[in-house]
Formats: sequence, structure tokens, C-alpha cells
Amino acid sequence: MGDIIDTEQVTHHDTFHITLERSIIPVRSEIQVQPGLLNEIPSILSQTVIEWRGDRLELAKAQHAVFSDSTVTSLYTKNLVDRMKDKGLKVVLFEFPEGEENKNLQTYGLLIDQIEKSEIKFGANTVVHAVGGGVTGDLAGYIAATYHRGVPFIQIPTSLLADVDSSIGGKVAIDSALAKNILGAFYEPTHVLIDPALLKTLPRRHLINGLAEVVKHGLLDDNLANLLVQQAGSLIPDDMNLLNIKLMQQIIEKSVEIKNRFVAADPFDKGVRRILNTGHTIGHAIEKVSHYELLHGEAVAIGMVTEGRIAAARGIWKPQDLEGLIILLNSIGLPTKIPRDFDIDEIMRAIWRDKKVTDAIELSIPVKGQSINDSLIMIKVGENEIQQIIKESTVV
Ligand SMILES: NC(=O)c1ccc[n+]([C@@H]2O[C@H](COP(=O)([O-])OP(=O)(O)OC[C@H]3O[C@@H](n4cnc5c(N)ncnc54)[C@H](O)[C@@H]3O)[C@@H](O)[C@H]2O)c1
Ligand SMILES: [Zn+2]
Repeated sequence: MGDIIDTEQVTHHDTFHITLERSIIPVRSEIQVQPGLLNEIPSILSQTVIEWRGDRLELAKAQHAVFSDSTVTSLYTKNLVDRMKDKGLKVVLFEFPEGEENKNLQTYGLLIDQIEKSEIKFGANTVVHAVGGGVTGDLAGYIAATYHRGVPFIQIPTSLLADVDSSIGGKVAIDSALAKNILGAFYEPTHVLIDPALLKTLPRRHLINGLAEVVKHGLLDDNLANLLVQQAGSLIPDDMNLLNIKLMQQIIEKSVEIKNRFVAADPFDKGVRRILNTGHTIGHAIEKVSHYELLHGEAVAIGMVTEGRIAAARGIWKPQDLEGLIILLNSIGLPTKIPRDFDIDEIMRAIWRDKKVTDAIELSIPVKGQSINDSLIMIKVGENEIQQIIKESTVV
């Protein structure tokens, strides 16, 4: 068989080669935390002008696509959208059923169909809003990143997890049938508008779930850790109507500042940002083995303690650091031990996923460093060591 192209007739003059260099598009993202902020959003939007890809865009003249799950829609978003209309904004509400199982391509497709068939003609001047928890933020963010090759995106988080974690850092994604967050982008919102008063309606278990990521941020910042230790008893009242909104505001502000510090130092998650992954390597495996019966934060709480045991066993953490973490998590109502009926082999398989068994896995361990760059130690851990620690971490 000869070559498909007669190479003798092809000279180097036939090859066109050019190197394109562009600087990364600068990002400007305004983050605001204020109880009662939701009420002010319609008037903020009608007065805000943003810079968008070299143009000025008056939000009063844009088309607003507001995405929200069914639960949050009836609590807040219907009303918000009505008040946006009262301000003369062109706005349509796109609702989808609540739950992680809807953060997928099918919902994405259905929502795009609805945009295209909507009573308002959406075009390049569309602004996407996410009003809800992390599921809404990730899904609407993925729509914002892809619709018309990217349109302005505004995050209005309503769960504690979204306030302190998923709305910050510019990651958006949807799930495939087999893998979580596999289709995604780095896509920063222009605004993150956080109203801590919305947490009063959040189910108690979801509030505690979000606190796991707050405790994780506390591992990276003594100020936040001290606040949590002092206030542990009053974070979760028996009656959620008595939730201390001022205190929530304080921990959200500190969390946002801490997460932002690591994201700014390493936007694409190649270096020090991986510190935010602490507790997550083992946590994700436990979440999976629970068949998602454990919420993400609950599994991460167990993961932080299990990974902390390895850090303590190696002398990277002091024993009292680990003890302090366990006491804090317990006092908030988060689990710290692997449930008795979890199969250790299944956990090991979930940790290793498709890696060869001989590979070591890497864990991100936060330490007290002089500067941001020496606050993270990556350690390699072999199978036997993990197995031993998992045994020690299981409820007997
Ligand atoms: N992008 C990121 O960086 C990032 C980071 C962490 C997690 N995530 C993603 O976030 C998602 C989890 O987020 P989540 O825990 O917020 O889940 P979620 O969005 O499903 O919200 C949890 C539940 O609380 C309800 N809810 C939300 N706010 C409420 C309120 N104020 N009052 C009453 N009910 C309310 C929701 O309807 C839902 O039932 C996952 O998909 C995860 O992958 C993303
Ligand atoms: Zn997490």
C-alpha cells in the first residue's frame, strides 16, 4: 500500500504554521454578603453596568434567564422574578426538578430548548442567573459558559454549601451517566450575591452539610477555626427560625475570603488550590460507597478525620490537632467515623478507582506554613497504610 498523499510532491512550503498567543481574559467578579440582599437584587440589576468582552452592557437592557430548582423556586425565585419584572427587566424563569440526579445533559438540553422557545427572544445579550444550591449554580453556570459561547453569569446562592464553596472559584459542571462533574468549565460569575437570611428555610441536615466545608476552611485559617470552636454550640439551633444570621454572615465572609485566597493563587487547580481537596479523596470514596445516602459534607467530615489520622500518624499533624477537629465536627453534628456496615474492600476500590493497586494515592494535607505556598503538603500513601487507617476509623 502506498501513501495516501504522494509525499514526494509535498515540500515544507505546504505546511502552514503559526503560533497564536493571547493573554487570559481578565476576570472581575463582585462578591457581596448581606442579610436581606435578595430584596435588593431587582434594583441592583436595573442599575448595574458591566464590562463584557470589550463592551459595556447595561443589565437593565439585557435579557435575563433565571434558573432555579423546584424547591427554591416556590420559596424565593418566583417572587424574585416578579419583582424583576416590576423593575421593567426582561426576565424569564426556567425551573427544573430539585436534586443532584438532574444536574445532567438531559436537563441541560431541556432548558436550552425552553430558552429557544421562550416568549422573550434570548440572544447574545442574555444574562444567566443561578438562584439555588450548588446543583443550580453548577448547571446554570454550565449553560452560561456555553450559551452563545459564554454570557454573563450571576450567582445567587441559597444553600450554605453554595454560599461558602460552590459559588466561589469559578468551577461549573454537569454530570454524565458515569462520572460527576465530567462536563465543565472554569467560568467566573460577574457577581455572587449572598443573602445569609435565606438559610432559615434550609433543611437542618443541609445546613450541617455546608458546615463541613466551613470546618475545612477552618483547617486553613486559625481565625475561622477559633470562631467555630467558640460558637460550635450555637451554630445549629433546635428551631431553625432562631438561626443566628449574623453568625452565619460572619462564617460565610471568612470562608469566602479563605477559598478566594487559594483560588487566586492557583485558579486552575494545579498547585496550592488542591489544599481545598483535603478530606475529599477518602470522602468521595465514602460518599460513593454510601450510594450517596451520606451527603457530600458528611462524607467529607469523615474523610477529613481519616486523612487527618494519616497526617497525625506521620507526625505532620500534632495529635491535639486531630482531636480538636474531631471534637469540633462532633459538636456540630457531623459524623467522624466510617459507619460499621461499610465494606472496607469497596472503600479501597472506590479510592483506587481505576488505578493500579501498586500505585500510591496522593492526599492534600494542610499545615501551618509561613506563606500560602508552604501551607500544603502532598503525601503519597500506599494501600496497606490506608487500609490500616480505615480500620481504625470505622465504628466498632
Ligand atoms: N462548583 C464547585 O466548585 C462546587 C463545589 C462544591 C460542590 N459543588 C456541587 O454542589 C452540589 C451540591 O450543592 P448543594 O448541597 O447546595 O445541593 P442542592 O443544590 O441540591 O441543594 C440542597 C437542597 O437544598 C434545597 N435548598 C437550597 N437552598 C434552600 C433554601 N434556602 N431553603 C430551602 N431549601 C433550599 C435544594 O432545593 C436542595 O433540595 C453538587 O452537585 C456538587 O457537585 C460544586
Ligand atoms: Zn467538597
